[in-house]
Amino acid sequence: MASGRRDLAAATIALAVLLVLFLPSSAAAAVPSIDATTATEGHCGRPLGLRFHLKSGYLYVADAYKGLMRVAPGGGEATVLVTEVDGVPLRFTNGVDIDQVTGEVYFTDSSMNFNRSQHEMVTRTGDSTGRLLRYDPRTGKAVVLQADITYPNGLAISADRTHLIISSTGPCKLLRYWIKGSKAGTMELFADLPGYPDNVRPDKKGGYWVALHREKAELPFGVDSHLLALRIDADGKIIEEMRGPKSVRPTEVVERKGGRLFMGSVELHYVSVVTRK
Ligand SMILES: *[C@@H]1O[C@H](CO)[C@@H](O)[C@H](O)[C@H]1NC(C)=O
Repeated sequence: MASGRRDLAAATIALAVLLVLFLPSSAAAAVPSIDATTATEGHCGRPLGLRFHLKSGYLYVADAYKGLMRVAPGGGEATVLVTEVDGVPLRFTNGVDIDQVTGEVYFTDSSMNFNRSQHEMVTRTGDSTGRLLRYDPRTGKAVVLQADITYPNGLAISADRTHLIISSTGPCKLLRYWIKGSKAGTMELFADLPGYPDNVRPDKKGGYWVALHREKAELPFGVDSHLLALRIDADGKIIEEMRGPKSVRPTEVVERKGGRLFMGSVELHYVSVVTRK
């Protein structure tokens, strides 16, 4: 009797799992143009960039749908800070970094035309309506630093705080935007990459780790290995490569104490710790 009830309970759980698995796909089948997982993502948001301001303890969040947000040092619900700049709504907020000295927040809006669920269109159409923006926590105002960028994604402020390195995903490039010095306010090519870059993070040695979503000329067959990330020095030269299985497509690589690398991906439900051979 007891075991019979357990079987029934197990059968009920199995059924519940089946319902959970089948409902979204049958809903998707009824309305072919809407993917069940992306249809709701505008409601809960998609945080694509996270960065702490160390002095204040605030955590800044670049959310694809909600815009630029901030979480107080004690945690709790995020406060939305910016949803539009110069009267143009943020449509695809993506990367964020902070000048730790001034507290100014630099962030990207990948496109004026496409949201995150349409990210493939940003690449396919060569859309160049992305923007580099700056939020000043003292005034609560955000300004456009540079418009008309092709798919700006992750970004990182240089160790000497004179410029920003921005990934331009579709063209497989890194760009450099000068904040200080004689070239202040201008943007130039920093590096050509063999793949599609996502987030850029400092390697704490003056250079950067750049996560690659895919190699530029990646074959769907053959050796199950591809480039996951690159380490670039302060002059834009590739000095280290990280390779791994094609099922892994990282969105961020961060180096911590002792050279340990932490790798995250929007497509994986875990964070990897990578050790060098
Ligand atoms: C993304 O934009 C398209 C076109 O404007 C819209 O139909 C869709 O609902 C948007 N997706 C989300 C999740 O907001």
